[in-house]
Amino acid sequence: MAILVTGGAGFIGSHTCLELLSGGYDIIVVDNFSNSNPESLKRVTEITGKLIKIYPMDLLDLNSLETVFLDNHIEAVIHFAGLKAVGESVHDSLKYYKNNITATLLICELMQKYKVKKMVFSSSATVYGLPDSVPISEGFPLKALNPYGRTKLMIEEILQDLYVSDNEWSITILRYFNPIGAHESGWIGEDPSGTPNNLMPYITRVAVGQLKELQIFGKDYATVDGTGVRDYIHVVDLAKGHLLALDKTLTSSGVHTYNLGTGRGYSVLEVVEAFELATGVHIPYKMVQPRSGDAAICYADPTKAEKELNWKAAKGIIEMCQDAWRWQSNNPHGYVKKEESVNPRLVQSEDFLLPNN
Ligand code: UD1
Repeated sequence: MAILVTGGAGFIGSHTCLELLSGGYDIIVVDNFSNSNPESLKRVTEITGKLIKIYPMDLLDLNSLETVFLDNHIEAVIHFAGLKAVGESVHDSLKYYKNNITATLLICELMQKYKVKKMVFSSSATVYGLPDSVPISEGFPLKALNPYGRTKLMIEEILQDLYVSDNEWSITILRYFNPIGAHESGWIGEDPSGTPNNLMPYITRVAVGQLKELQIFGKDYATVDGTGVRDYIHVVDLAKGHLLALDKTLTSSGVHTYNLGTGRGYSVLEVVEAFELATGVHIPYKMVQPRSGDAAICYADPTKAEKELNWKAAKGIIEMCQDAWRWQSNNPHGYVKKEESVNPRLVQSEDFLLPNN
């Protein structure tokens, strides 16, 4: 029996694959590498010494996707695959609805058909919109502010309806706050294509000299120093949360929703200060206009995950900064370019050998 991980080559996906392999699970990854690099999975096998079965395919390709279910005994699906750039989703909403919603419908149909009714779904704190207060608990009102957020919210609702239609389903929805950091090896990490949209990859690109300075979006929020506050969570803590969520999914039924955050907020300036302290690298910045749709303050109440999943974030902001920097400074250009790195063994639907074998 294996766990099918969609989007397993991405930032959170690759770190979760690593934890799953270390936890003794067999895994199968389906990824179209549209916003990720197969090199991440190759490195996961190097770190763990374990094999991953990879299907380089698009979830929208129903016939190919069905072969994954026909070829394997799948116990559960961890569904990461999806597009996640807020700005792009505003300009190309259909692309987001097709890639995120349609793909989820297709995989759910196959899961239903092959009686694999267990899913862990990657949602986001974005479903809380602009919260009225903090900390944010799971019962807070939900509101999407853009097509990307709407896809997450719609999928959550689709999964709720799916359970109502068939009580055999077991679904765990994880609402991530702001994942940053990297595996302590510095061998896998966050590798956005183009100019990063998110804070930490932007900071690390400034630190490595590829971007001139950080632009801080807004200095007059009602926060400790006027800059936006977020709940940054180490990606390895987040990945470990998936294993506990998987345990829950495998041993229960129903739809369960959890915030995965630390419960503590840091302002942009506090993150810059922590990064400088953790790494000794100076980060020049300038204040610019607020980004539209940004909340002033957003941090989780993570007590439900602590009580029901026995999960708690363990790593602090300094470790997050150190690990993000180790990754970026060891890999100034991220994973090597896809054309150079694609190993033919990785683009076949078969077990690939351990590197150097
Ligand atoms: C963003 C997305 C959110 C998504 C999440 C994870 C938006 C509006 N929200 O969340 O939907 O789920 O990423 O991918 O894009 N900041 C700067 N300068 C920068 C970048 C960010 O000052 O160059 C500030 C932001 O204003 C914010 C904080 O840093 O206060 C964190 O920003 P970011 O990392 O983009 O995360 P979110 O906005 O919380």
